[in-house]
Amino acid sequence: RAMTNPFEDEDLTSPRRARAAREYVSDLGNPDLYRTDARFAMWRDYAAADEPVWSEPGSSPHGFWSVFSHEACRAVLAPSAPFTSEYGMMIGFDAETPDRAGGRMLVVTDGDHHTRLRRLITPFLSRTNATTLDQFIDTEVRKCVSDALRTGRVDVAMTVGPRLPAAVVCEILGVPPNDRERLVELTNHAFGGSDGTFDKMTPSEAHSEILMYFYELVERRRSAPGDDLVSTLLSDGRLSVQDVLFNCDNVLIGGNETTRHSITGCFHALSTVPDALDRLRADPALIRTVVEEVIRWTSPAMHVLRVATEDVEISGRVLPAGSPVVAWLPAANRDERVFPQPQRFLLDRPSNRHLGFGNGPHHCLGAALARAGLTALLRVLVEQVHSITLTGPPEWLRSNLTQGYLHLPVELDPM
Ligand code: HEM
Repeated sequence: RAMTNPFEDEDLTSPRRARAAREYVSDLGNPDLYRTDARFAMWRDYAAADEPVWSEPGSSPHGFWSVFSHEACRAVLAPSAPFTSEYGMMIGFDAETPDRAGGRMLVVTDGDHHTRLRRLITPFLSRTNATTLDQFIDTEVRKCVSDALRTGRVDVAMTVGPRLPAAVVCEILGVPPNDRERLVELTNHAFGGSDGTFDKMTPSEAHSEILMYFYELVERRRSAPGDDLVSTLLSDGRLSVQDVLFNCDNVLIGGNETTRHSITGCFHALSTVPDALDRLRADPALIRTVVEEVIRWTSPAMHVLRVATEDVEISGRVLPAGSPVVAWLPAANRDERVFPQPQRFLLDRPSNRHLGFGNGPHHCLGAALARAGLTALLRVLVEQVHSITLTGPPEWLRSNLTQGYLHLPVELDPM
């Protein structure tokens, strides 16, 4: 089902579009905005207008600026840009209400300490390691797809989507198999979006439980080290137990929350293209291109936040030092200036310069793993599934952080 775009043929700079963009809401952090497909039109218009937009305090204590175009998002995240992640990288944090993990957890640390942490963690998530994980990933994907085929009709968001990334991340962290289901469930509660379905415990209670679990794991690895990430972080000797916990948490969240939605979204994306799987069977070389298009089209990381370290000009406006600035990645990934027919999922989209994994020094460290998971999934779907049909509309998470699926009911027709 291709998205319709009523403005498709219009001049990007038309006053009508700019006005439409400005008429949108006063607090772009309001998670209700992201529950319906209307967000795509909102992002399209903001990206076309290409001006920083101020959000009033509400979802964040002091308000924040937003940018949407591909160029502006790239500029905010660029290596030399005068911005820091150390106050936090999501809406809710700013210079006056900083994230307490700042300067200690990879994704909210800059400079030399960021480089050191990245060096420690990279071998576990790098391409080489992803290749050695290929067998593990392939086995997990086959299990997920054959379970789904057995029932025929499945809610991908509740079954296939969560299972693969959780298994891979637990493998990297060295979480014993018996504890995995519990950790996946906790991650769902903590980061699944503030939806009523996840109300067994509050998100922050679930998050605390995850940290408690890691604390026990760290204690176990201290007396019996392995060749996993927890043991490596511990062996560095310069990180406190709390620093180790923060970074385990970073990998757990980074690996789970985004990847599950790109996997679920892969089913959704394929269902929008007639004969998609037949075309991939005829030309399996397309799988590489499709992986990138899945990341662009699904863009599960919805925003990243930075704080300006000096006065900075973005899209023609000077934002003062200390300003929190949010880059909306799915908006950049559907910017009409960069991506022709941006709302459509194209199997053969050429030169896909998406920002789905971010840009600059914090560019996703798990990108190779995410790509490996999607490649394995596409190969198995090509081999075993004739076609994918949606049996109901997708239901979206109520979240300003993760663009993801609450439900995606599909019917799988076997080969
Ligand atoms: C960073 C997206 C999968 C671990 C990031 C960032 C984005 C992102 C946008 C940049 C954050 C920033 O600039 O502040 C995604 C998407 C994924 C994915 C869309 C899947 C489709 C993974 C996986 C892992 C992972 C599988 C690990 C198993 C990380 C880590 C960072 C990161 C550790 C921090 C890197 C740093 O700060 O240097 N990710 N990610 N991600 N991601 Fe991912």
